[in-house]
Amino acid sequence: MSRAKVYEDFGKSVFIEEMLEAARLMSERGWAERNAGNMSCIIPGSDAARYFDPDQVKRAFKLDLNIKELSGMFFLITATGSYFRKLKIDPAKGLGVVRVSLDGNRLELLWGFENGAAPTSEMRMHFMGHIVRLKKDPNHKVILHTHATNTIVMSINGALDEKAFTRALWRMHSECVVVFPEGVGLVPWMVPGTQEISAATAQKLEDFRLIIWPLHGIIGTGSSIDEAMGLIETVEKTAEIYIKSMGLTELPQFLTDKQVLDTAARFDLKPKQGILEL
Ligand code: 13P
Ligand code: ZN
Repeated sequence: MSRAKVYEDFGKSVFIEEMLEAARLMSERGWAERNAGNMSCIIPGSDAARYFDPDQVKRAFKLDLNIKELSGMFFLITATGSYFRKLKIDPAKGLGVVRVSLDGNRLELLWGFENGAAPTSEMRMHFMGHIVRLKKDPNHKVILHTHATNTIVMSINGALDEKAFTRALWRMHSECVVVFPEGVGLVPWMVPGTQEISAATAQKLEDFRLIIWPLHGIIGTGSSIDEAMGLIETVEKTAEIYIKSMGLTELPQFLTDKQVLDTAARFDLKPKQGILEL
């Protein structure tokens, strides 16, 4: 006699717990006004098998891009229009678990997105980004996008191109070169949610785990929510220091390029070349 498999409640899983915590932090820090920000996280197949009946597809979302590289993979992703400050009230509405179809043209919904919710308008960037980061780092799992306030303010300074932005961060706070020795990527301003911004961001993710969207926000990636969030927090905190230091009347004492290099060397890190000026 065959016995039906009993699946664990995904709503009580650590995946949901960690995403709700990230949403809470972003919201409390003022980075998640209204529906600002979106998140996605790979759910390993072994975990997915504990929570989801692979034959119970609730709905499907047609994609206007092909992501065959991710076929069969499971993602926890935020819903478009979801308010992060309210995510914990009804996680099964603001979050969904989708499996990429075998042909890579569809997302199959296995959990969540209740009441007709759908994946974030930035899902192209998330999926294209996951494809790139997985090639760079087999442990990659998470992409976070948030409207980090000080990072946006710093991005208003048009004199800060990609290299100058990285240099300013490295010189402003001793830990920056250790946390992101590869620097930060920066794409020109583009309309949110488009193929254009998604492709440009994915291209930058070849070289960086952090991407600045000028006048909009930041993308952080990593092998866990903690790692992606830690990268974003470090940039955001340093951007705050940068902005506050601009008001100082005395001659500001930033780190010299030698001090930045000495700090990196202490941790056996080689900062990306061509950024510092010595
Ligand atoms: P979504 O609500 O569609 O995720 O959009 C929020 C956002 O930050 C767009 O860049
Ligand atoms: Zn945004």
